[in-house]
Amino acid sequence: MYNITVIPGDGIGPEVVEASKYVVDSTGININWEEVNAGASVLEEEGTALPDKLLKNIEKNRVALKGPVTTPVGSGFRSINVELRKKFNLYANVRPVTAIPGIFSRYPRMDLVIIRENTQDLYSGIEYSTDDSSAHAIKLVTREASERIGRFAFDYCGKNNRRKVTCVHKANILKLTDGLFLESVRNMAKDYPDIEYEELIVDNACMQVVIDPGRFDVLVMPNLYGDIMSDMCAGMVGGLGLVPGANMGDEIVIFEAVHGSAPDIAGRGIANPTAVILTSAMMLDYLGEERSAGIIRRAVYSVIKEGVWITPDLGGKATTMDMARAIAEYVNI
Ligand code: NAI
Ligand code: MG
Repeated sequence: MYNITVIPGDGIGPEVVEASKYVVDSTGININWEEVNAGASVLEEEGTALPDKLLKNIEKNRVALKGPVTTPVGSGFRSINVELRKKFNLYANVRPVTAIPGIFSRYPRMDLVIIRENTQDLYSGIEYSTDDSSAHAIKLVTREASERIGRFAFDYCGKNNRRKVTCVHKANILKLTDGLFLESVRNMAKDYPDIEYEELIVDNACMQVVIDPGRFDVLVMPNLYGDIMSDMCAGMVGGLGLVPGANMGDEIVIFEAVHGSAPDIAGRGIANPTAVILTSAMMLDYLGEERSAGIIRRAVYSVIKEGVWITPDLGGKATTMDMARAIAEYVNI
């Protein structure tokens, strides 16, 4: 039996997390889901958006499945995601973006992995106003964190049968910060002579990904570029409802999809559960349950290919739970 921390989150979070648990449970794997919430809804009840009991539960279980949480724009509490990633040193955000057969996309062969440095850069939270009309944000980059994410990207290739790493940066302008990031990843590349290595400036990298995503394999980059590129790549394969992810550290992993709490469709039961279901397949891989992870992926692909029980974002009429039930049926075929 596995003890897994579950954070339903805000907006569509509880809906898609419920759907994902349903599909995982349908495989017969014995999981004890320990639910402890965080986010805007918890703030109202408990006076904190990130309760201590959640941190303790994650520390105990070391694996969590997390729904998205709403973060206020401009003012209000700081991002819980950023807090969790920093607190548990979840330094690598891994986001495989793969085209799914049956979904209309101009990029049917897209299959790349974004590895985003998850603890530094402009997301360090060091920001201050100097006076009413000026504000500063610190872009923090260290050699240690940059080498660590570089090494992670090359090791990821070895473990996942990937052949090439592209380091994405803006070191032509940000000579010191991105310069250090680039130099650190380049240093790591020397230890992996069998893995192809290239470097691209971020704006050009975006253009190249859109023109020919098939030429990319693993892309490693600082936090902000990784955030933006993830949503861009999700759009290329059919939307945010499809792309899974994981926040990985050496000890603790929090699995969560790329998408946010989608307030525009929350509460209507129409969010696409695929991203979180594929996220839980990544979790099963991590737990050593590769067989069940594979069964879930094939079930998701079958339901999408069939095109009946799919949510509105994919052109269907099914609800979140309709789609999850159809996937669970394929799991048990
Ligand atoms: P979002 O990712 O929530 O939504 C962007 C667009 O994609 C919306 O039109 C939404 O309806 C659609 N979408 C997202 N997930 C979908 C799904 N599963 N099925 C169908 N359509 C889906 O981004 P947005 O609107 O910028 O952010 C909303 C809130 O989420 C903000 O408070 C933001 O801070 C938070 N957020 C939280 C994240 C997390 O907890 N990991 C990640 C990203 C955003
Ligand atoms: Mg994002």
